Amino acid sequence: MQSLEALTRDARALANGDVVLSAAETEVARQMQICNACRYCEGFCAVFPAMTRRLEFGKADIHFLANLCHNCGACLHACQYAPPHEFAVNVPQAMAQVRGQTYADYAWPPALGQLYQRQGLTLSLALAAGLALFLVLAVVLHGQGLAALWGTPQGGFYGIFPHNLLVGLFAPVFLFATLALSLGVRRFWRDVAPATSGAPLSPPATAEAADAVLRLKYLDGGHGDGCHNEDDAYTLSRRRFHHFTFYGFLLCFAATSVATLYHYLLGWVAPYELPSLPKLLGVAGGVSLMIGTAGLWRLNLQRHALHGDAAQKPMDRGFIALLFLTSASGLLLWLGRGTPALALLLCLHLGAVMALFATLPYGKFAHGIFRTASLLRHAVEKRQPHPIGLGAD
Ligand code: HEM
Ligand code: HEM
Ligand code: SF4
Ligand code: SF4
Repeated sequence: MQSLEALTRDARALANGDVVLSAAETEVARQMQICNACRYCEGFCAVFPAMTRRLEFGKADIHFLANLCHNCGACLHACQYAPPHEFAVNVPQAMAQVRGQTYADYAWPPALGQLYQRQGLTLSLALAAGLALFLVLAVVLHGQGLAALWGTPQGGFYGIFPHNLLVGLFAPVFLFATLALSLGVRRFWRDVAPATSGAPLSPPATAEAADAVLRLKYLDGGHGDGCHNEDDAYTLSRRRFHHFTFYGFLLCFAATSVATLYHYLLGWVAPYELPSLPKLLGVAGGVSLMIGTAGLWRLNLQRHALHGDAAQKPMDRGFIALLFLTSASGLLLWLGRGTPALALLLCLHLGAVMALFATLPYGKFAHGIFRTASLLRHAVEKRQPHPIGLGAD
């Protein structure tokens, strides 16, 4: 068995030609050299089969593998070389550190990449509160003083903020977030494509990746009993609460999209009542998002200290909190319709939505986009002949 120093030196020497690896990337390369000799965890997830296709780990390989890792914790709890062993193998933590770095490195525009380090619970909540306060002031200054804030306004929501003003406020922020994330992931895709066989997408590969995303396959621990959270017991809670969150978000998004079509194509103006489609989607999505984020919040607080990158916890919590605040304030707004609190609740909901949209491209939301891209590359790569002729995909 080689010593820790020798393995570290080898990993450094194998670093991709003249491309210098960061400390976090070097650590992943070091650990992958150990895992490649051990291979005990081969059946746990997609990372280990992808690892066996490589003898060296360059920058692009490391970025790909880090975003393929689902931080399920299985390999940490199974590992005979985990701390306090001198090899100090902790794959989920090493991968999490590189993931955080890739979000910042691939950010568009690059200068805003450092915003990832600033994301946190306080900043997210302060942004939502600040934007809500700004909207409250706009209502007070534009209406007849404080009375405009408490009462039943003529024309409902649009009596407070005209429809075109809302579109003018939200559409640019949302479009910018979409553009920034698309350009970031496009660059990531271009970088990792050559390292992952470079073959084009095929329908079976796309279908397999979609299945892995939609079922969150790699939080099943490889055996279906689930992943780890606070200890070495298996739990399906993380997967289930993520499903509530993910599908809740999609339903809210679908509700807003259907409402936009109603408005522009059919001329049907909000608010919509139950059992209309936007309302059904919105209420189901809002309740699901609240359940999911409440569960993920509890699991995040209880999470094993060695699992992830402690520096990214504030970003994770800020995102969970903003999703919860957005869904809770949306539902409160619906329930508060017809009460004098309407204007205040509308300001709260719109402040939360605006803060969520503004932080989308430089926060935890990136994980879904980068993981999807890596799962796609993995599904393409595993259909190519095995370059080493060992191991199984
Ligand atoms: C474009 C930005 C958005 C605007 C202008 C907006 C505005 C509104 C308004 C006016 C309502 C009250 C509807 C009613 O009482 O009938 C509402 C409800 C709601 N909103 Fe938003 N919203 C936006 C984005 C979002 C997002 C991104 C989410 C969640 C991630 C969300 C979640 C909800 C929920 C759960 C409800 C309550 C259910 C419903 O009434 O359909 N909203 N929103
Ligand atoms: C598109 C594909 C997606 C995949 C494959 C995916 C996968 C994952 C995985 C594996 C985790 C646990 C590991 C980690 O914390 O990094 C996670 C956490 C999380 N995801 Fe996703 N996700 C996706 C999209 C989304 C979306 C669209 C949302 C919500 C809008 C979302 C919200 C969250 C939240 C709130 C967490 C919890 C962070 C924590 O535990 O502290 N995810 N996701
Ligand atoms: S994480 Fe540990 S047990 Fe698993 S393959 Fe790597 S060295 Fe082996
Ligand atoms: S933490 Fe889970 S997903 Fe990540 S490498 Fe280990 S077993 Fe695979």
